Amino acid sequence: MKNNFDVIVVGELNVDIILNQIDSFPEMGKEKLASSMSLTLGSSSAIFASNLSSMGAKVGFIGKTGKDTFADLVLDSLQAKNVDTSMIIQDDSLATGATIVLNFDQDRAMVTHPGAMNYLILSDISPDHLKQGKHLHFASCFLQPGIKPDLANLFKSAKELGLTTSFDPQWDPAEKWDIDIEEILPHVDIFLPNKVEALLLSGEKDIETALDKLARIGNIIVIKLGEKGSILKHGNKVIKATPFLNTNVVDAIGAGDSFNTGFVYKFIQGEDIRVCQTFANLTGALNTTEPGGTAAFTTMANILKIGKERFGYKFED
Ligand SMILES: Nc1ncnc2c1ncn2[C@@H]1O[C@H](COP(=O)(O)OP(=O)(O)OP(=O)(O)O)[C@@H](O)[C@H]1O
Ligand SMILES: [Mg+2]
Repeated sequence: MKNNFDVIVVGELNVDIILNQIDSFPEMGKEKLASSMSLTLGSSSAIFASNLSSMGAKVGFIGKTGKDTFADLVLDSLQAKNVDTSMIIQDDSLATGATIVLNFDQDRAMVTHPGAMNYLILSDISPDHLKQGKHLHFASCFLQPGIKPDLANLFKSAKELGLTTSFDPQWDPAEKWDIDIEEILPHVDIFLPNKVEALLLSGEKDIETALDKLARIGNIIVIKLGEKGSILKHGNKVIKATPFLNTNVVDAIGAGDSFNTGFVYKFIQGEDIRVCQTFANLTGALNTTEPGGTAAFTTMANILKIGKERFGYKFED
């Protein structure tokens, strides 16, 4: 059967209201000023989908929004990046959520109202839609309580339909970390947590032990280490990749999602995991050169140019 999409993304959709250059950290009962503001497409899954599509992959999105102005912004932004939005369910009884991002230097504080993303459930994801893709990417399980109990089933059915799979768990705002990795990870080809998420989900105290444990349960395990790059384990092979360090970070919003983009982009082309990981480090670094998660991903030609000129990345194609 013909695949319409290289990658199907199942995930959360919301907008980001980003406040920059805040004069000092917010305090109860007081008002602070931010020198600049932007309203953009938010959510880990949407940033991943947009960037992958900008790089030339064919991407379809399955998710749930309301039928409101935030949903219009989400759909318009995805469509502007050529992401297929026809499988997104719009429910007019629900509100599309938003994240307020307070940016401080390289870090940030965030508050999210999840809205419609709370209500995406397994039966919303039809096998007919899934099988239109070659690869399934899913992110942010703790923001999607409707689908969280069925993650193993989602990845298992994708595998049975012949797709490869990737999973970025993202942060758990409730800090319960209540997913069953023993049940889920066998069906996930690429697991993409950051360092803290890897420690908390594995219940281990150091990265090496966490990596060992996750790799025993799953397949390719890639742990993102912020400005220290990333470490990967597959079978007995461990690869540590130093970053393409950006010492002039604009912000790190979406750096993890952009890292995922680079990894999956090379993976679906059948590249060696070392190539996938190095390219992921590049796309993570690239993300930090512009504000927000998608601005640095214009065209593949531009990514090639910045990768070569600014980060000294050697492209083999
Ligand atoms: N200052 C930097 N210079 C170069 N690369 C960076 C820098 N910061 C992050 N990166 C790249 O981005 C990747 C992802 O960053 P990070 O470890 O912060 O992910 P994350 O915590 O999952 O992010 P997110 O909050 O977007 O989910 C890193 O593995 C690295 O490759
Ligand atoms: Mg992350």
